[in-house]
This record gives sequence, C-alpha cells and structure tokens, in this order.
Amino acid sequence: MRFHWETWPLIFWLVSYYPSRASIYDEFKANWCRQRKWRLDWRSLKKPCQDLRYRRLTGKQYQAFSTSLSQSEIFEVKIRPAGEYSRFFVQSRTHNAQKKTIGGDSWRVYLEGPSYLAGTVFDHNDGTYEVLFLIKEPGVYKINMILDYTLCDGLIDPPIDWFQNAHCSGNLKNSLLSNELFSEMTGYINKPLLDTKNRTVNIPWPRITEAEIQKYMRDADNECNVYCNVLWDGFGRWGNDYKWTPYLNSSIQDTTIMLSHQKQHDHTTGHGVFWVYGDSLSYYFYVSITSPPRPLCTDVFKECNVTYNWIYPKTLYELTETCAEMSLHVPRVLNYFRQVILRKDMDKESALLLNAGAHYVKTTSFKSYQEVIKALIDEVKHKYKGTVIWKSTTAIHGQTADIMGAFRRFTTNHRIQLYNAFANSAMCENSISFLDVYPVSESYPPGTKDGIHYKDEVFNSAIDVLERYFSPH
Ligand SMILES: *[C@@H]1O[C@H](CO)[C@@H](O)[C@H](O)[C@H]1NC(C)=O
Ligand SMILES: *[C@@H]1O[C@H](CO)[C@@H](O)[C@H](O)[C@H]1NC(C)=O
Ligand SMILES: *[C@@H]1O[C@H](CO)[C@@H](O)[C@H](O)[C@H]1NC(C)=O
Repeated sequence: MRFHWETWPLIFWLVSYYPSRASIYDEFKANWCRQRKWRLDWRSLKKPCQDLRYRRLTGKQYQAFSTSLSQSEIFEVKIRPAGEYSRFFVQSRTHNAQKKTIGGDSWRVYLEGPSYLAGTVFDHNDGTYEVLFLIKEPGVYKINMILDYTLCDGLIDPPIDWFQNAHCSGNLKNSLLSNELFSEMTGYINKPLLDTKNRTVNIPWPRITEAEIQKYMRDADNECNVYCNVLWDGFGRWGNDYKWTPYLNSSIQDTTIMLSHQKQHDHTTGHGVFWVYGDSLSYYFYVSITSPPRPLCTDVFKECNVTYNWIYPKTLYELTETCAEMSLHVPRVLNYFRQVILRKDMDKESALLLNAGAHYVKTTSFKSYQEVIKALIDEVKHKYKGTVIWKSTTAIHGQTADIMGAFRRFTTNHRIQLYNAFANSAMCENSISFLDVYPVSESYPPGTKDGIHYKDEVFNSAIDVLERYFSPH
C-alpha cells in the first residue's frame, strides 16, 4: 500500500494520539507512583525550606523575592484523555517579573468541572511547580490555583510559647497569644494565580477502557515499590451530587490488593472494641460511627469507644496545671496513650484507629512531632496486641479564625502535608495499616465547615472501608 504525502500528517497524528498501550501504561504508572510516594516523602516537602526554625524575610527582601500572582504563569500544559494523568507547570516570578529559582511557596489547586478534585503539587525547588491530577470524567475543567504563602512562610514552626498559650488560653479567641504579627496572619496570601483565573482545560474522552484503567491502577500499585499496608488510599473525585467515587473500584474481585489486607488482623466478627484515639477530628469520626450506630460498632465489633485529646486528654485543659508547660512533654503523651492500649479489653480482637496531627501542627515544631510519632509507634509495636490503623490528618482549605483563633497562623495546609508525610512514612516503615483521609478531604468542594472540621458525610466511604476490612471475606 502506498501513502500519498498528504496522508502522512494524519498518520503522525494517529500515531501520536494513539500511542501503544505499553507507553500509555508506563506514563500512567510513573504518575500513579509519584502521587503515592509524594504523600510519604516528607524530605522532599521539607527540602525547599530546610531551615524550618522561625525565619522570615522582612521588608524589602520579602518584597523582592516573594512570588507575584500576576507575573507567575503556567508554561506547560500536558492534557491526556480521561482516565490518564494530566499535569501542568507553573513558573513563579517576582513582582519585577524575574524568574524565581527557589521553591517554598504553598499552593492549593482545585479542578472544577464534571467532577471535583484537588491536584497534587510538586515543588521542584527551582522556581517551578508541577500540578498532577487524574480526571475520570471528560469535559471542561476550571483550574483554581491559590497561593497561601510564599518564601516558606507556610512551613515555618510556631514560636515556642505557642504550646503553652494553647493550653492556657481557655477561650476560642486564644487572646493570650503575644505575637501580634502572627495573630494578624501576616504573610497569608490566599489569592488565586491570575493566569488560572480564566483558564480551563478540556479533558477528552478516554482512549482506554474502564477495565484497562482498573487494571493499570492495580498493576501500578504493585509495581510502585511503596511498601505500605494501605487500607484505603483516599484518591478519587467528588461528583456534582457530592458523591465520592474512588478511582479503585473495590467491587471488582481483587486477588492482590484487598486479599493481602484481609490477612493483617486477628479480629473475629462481633468481638473486641474499636477504639478511636485522636483530637476533635477523630472525635467527630467516632460520633459519625456511633450516632446512629453503624454496623462497625454493633456487628463487626462488640463496641466502639473514643479518647478525645488535644495533645493530652481534652479534659485536662480545664485544669491549670498544664499552663506550666512551655513545650511538649512526650512521656506525658505516652502515659495517657498507655492507659488505653493496655486496657484489658484492648486485646487482640480490638482495633485502634489512631491519629495525632492537627494540634501538633498548630502548636509544636516539626522536630517535636517526629519524636511523638516515633514514640507512639514504639508503644503500639511493643505493648499493644490489637490492630492499629493510622488515620492521616485531614486537609484544610482557607484558614479562618472561627475555631482556631490566632492559632490558625500555623495550621497551614502545607504544614499538615509535611506532618502527614512524616507520620505516614513512619507508619508504613513499621507495617502499620494506613487509612488516608487527606485526599478525600482536600478534594471536597465546600472545604471545611469552620476551618478544620468537615461534614460527617465526607468520611462515609472511609467507614465503609473499615467495615469491609474487619468483616469476613
Ligand atoms: C478574565 O475574563 C474577564 C471577562 O472576559 C476579563 O475581564 C478579565 O480581564 C480576564 N482576566 C484575566 C486575568 O485574564
Ligand atoms: C465497579 O465495577 C462494577 C463491575 O464491573 C460495576 O458494575 C460498577 O458500576 C463499578 N463501580 C464504579 C463506582 O465504578
Ligand atoms: C468507654 O471507656 C470509658 C472509660 O473506660 C468507659 O467509662 C465507657 O463506659 C466506655 N464507653 C463505651 C461506649 O463503651
């Protein structure tokens, strides 16, 4: 068969639009794995801001090096059909239109169209940022890319007196905080990148079938070399009806992912206590499984129970004794923790849904947090007989004073990402199961109710997963 010269462009187009299945899969796998590694990779998150101690550029320096929302721009958009990863890159620039060559900006990115989801942002630490996202529903999407902080302002640790003030303030306004600078939210930008304001991306119809996509996800999961017992990866998208659909369709019989998880506990249906341990984020999770009671607390387990901490059990905050503490006291945290994990009913039939995050992000340094997480892991590994499931800390959208008062200054989404990444990776290294509620919350279109908490419905899918996990196959 002979081709006319006019047909060559068409053939090139066909070849480039229809690459081989192998190359589609390779690209898919690379991005699937990057997204999964990112949420454990605290070193890369921290790298652009190595020195996390209280450090701020001021005045002229800040003006000269901060990122400009009108000068920065998207410079490369790589759109793929639905069911494959798309991404784009942003070049950050200063107010003088100089290309920046350092990282450290805190971005949030939302894709809004036939479905809603947050993009994963990679700081390449050279002035460019990459936004990666997997869209399943074809159509036109608006990009909403918001700069929260620049020059590492979104990652710095709070001053040391914040821990004590959090314990003593006693009211929601947290008016005891001395540092006016932070109370006024200096440095919080919370404005969109102008280049994304009128920008949409058009995601074409898929060129591979749903069955192929499901297979790609499972194959990629097995080939990523991320050795984590992930109970639920939390990735998916919200529909216009606010219905969450995970990427991985769990109703498909699965010989790899689900089966390997089934074996990681000694629980017998109807026995044991399911104990939720954490702060108010966990406490509300407990409320949503107990009122009205879900099968998890009546059929799958004998009962559910909860410990409500800020950092120490919540009730202690009404006492004045903790006002004396300037900094976090790890043995004290462990002491309260043991009172739960060493209970008689916390036997091998029991389970502990564990989180420690928001209050650490709000009042302590990253270094202290690392110590706490390592110590908690050590405790459960050596002292607890049941099944531990680590639940990550949920995302925040805009920072409001509603519930956080001045403490919102350090409750940044960027810091939540960093603290999560450290805890997630430490849990994985110690073979502790991991339920990642961060992506589902980050993608939830209305965001939080009050700056930190979500409507219960956001975590319904996570509850389903827990019920399935502890039920007989
Ligand atoms: C966006 O579109 C509106 C209306 O077409 C226009 O007035 C505005 O200047 C545009 N903004 C940007 C940043 O391009
Ligand atoms: C999952 O797969 C099953 C069987 O192929 C299908 O009936 C169902 O609609 C799928 N669910 C989702 C959420 O994609
Ligand atoms: C939870 O544990 C506490 C403390 O031991 C106990 O007093 C309470 O009755 C338990 N609640 C439920 C619902 O089992």
